[in-house]
Amino acid sequence: MAITPHGGTLINRLLTGDALAAARKKAGHLPSITVDAYTAFDIDGIAKGLFSPLTGFMGEAETRAVLDTMHLRPGIPWTIPILLDVSREQAARLEVGAEVALQDDTGDVVAILHLAEKFSLDRAALCEKVYQTTDESHPGVNYTMSLGDVFLAGELDVLKAREIEFQEYNLTPVETRAAFESRGWKRIVAFQTRNPIHRAHEYLTKCALEICDGLLIHPLMGTTKSDDIPGDVRMKCYTVLIDQYYPKDHVMLSLMPVNMRYAGPKEAIMHAIIRKNYGCTHFIVGRDHAGVGNFYGTYDAQRIFDRFDPEEIGITPLFFEHAFYSKRTQSMASPKTCPGTNEDHVFLSGTKVREMLKRGEMPPPEFTRPEVARILIAWAQENGE
Ligand code: ADX
Repeated sequence: MAITPHGGTLINRLLTGDALAAARKKAGHLPSITVDAYTAFDIDGIAKGLFSPLTGFMGEAETRAVLDTMHLRPGIPWTIPILLDVSREQAARLEVGAEVALQDDTGDVVAILHLAEKFSLDRAALCEKVYQTTDESHPGVNYTMSLGDVFLAGELDVLKAREIEFQEYNLTPVETRAAFESRGWKRIVAFQTRNPIHRAHEYLTKCALEICDGLLIHPLMGTTKSDDIPGDVRMKCYTVLIDQYYPKDHVMLSLMPVNMRYAGPKEAIMHAIIRKNYGCTHFIVGRDHAGVGNFYGTYDAQRIFDRFDPEEIGITPLFFEHAFYSKRTQSMASPKTCPGTNEDHVFLSGTKVREMLKRGEMPPPEFTRPEVARILIAWAQENGE
């Protein structure tokens, strides 16, 4: 039996048929607001059930429950509010109880919001709870502090799913669930990443696959910070790596159109819940999952799972210590599995790797596969990265 979605039901807020035609007609006469790409990705996440059980943007009580208790309601963990912000002037034009057309960053009307509530929140307090900091050098804080003064809450009817580059890989939870079933996979482990897959990542995925039937390589493809490696470059890396180094019948590549929040532990819980909605039973959490800079402890994103009943999370986290290539054992390893000291490890910082790529130097094959390195060098040199 497939894993139950978060909250019990896979949400689908996408209109079809007559309801869609009627909504399209109506939308032209409604008051409208334009949202940015970040919010448009959130609308899409609600529409297709990635964020089940959410059916719309959160209201004040729900947001406070999430911030204070890490639950939407008892038994339903949730760690990061999903909010729709507008300016005070925009909010003043909109009546509670009205319908509002939401236009995305490309100008299309993508959804109708049934406006149930308008509220304000202290954004610094919001940052403190979600990101554990108010330091504006944190990309999540920076984004949150730039939000409008008023939040709009209510259910959504969605007119259009968001299309992304490599749309053919953008399977919905309904589609991944069907794909797992048709492959006969019962234990499916998801791997979240916002980077090219290096040897340490590859090691984690393969260790996990040893105890599962299938691996879902599930890179995040919503908005990311400007110095993260672009999606199209990463996609080239993923396809070449899977083609050369993974067994086809146990691995699937699909994209996750969700924004990166860089919220470390709280985002690890969110990432796990979303993968449960996609039908996965296991989820990899390694070192500094969804972290940025030095804002979180190396294993905070693993420890946070202890604060929940495993039943209410529903998906099984698989924790990995810091992985590296060990010269002594001549294999990928972690402090848990090899006896070496630090000198034994092939370890390169992200900054050092970027410098090498810029100079056209191949990082060692123990760090990254040469096929991946060549793609990254071409990109780094083209872009003066
Ligand atoms: S993340 O923002 O998506 O977490 P990244 O793509 O680097 O960043 O990591 C993907 C997953 O691999 C995360 O679970 C992360 O904790 C894990 N990870 C990355 N590098 C290592 C490593 N060297 N050892 C163990 N886990 C790692």
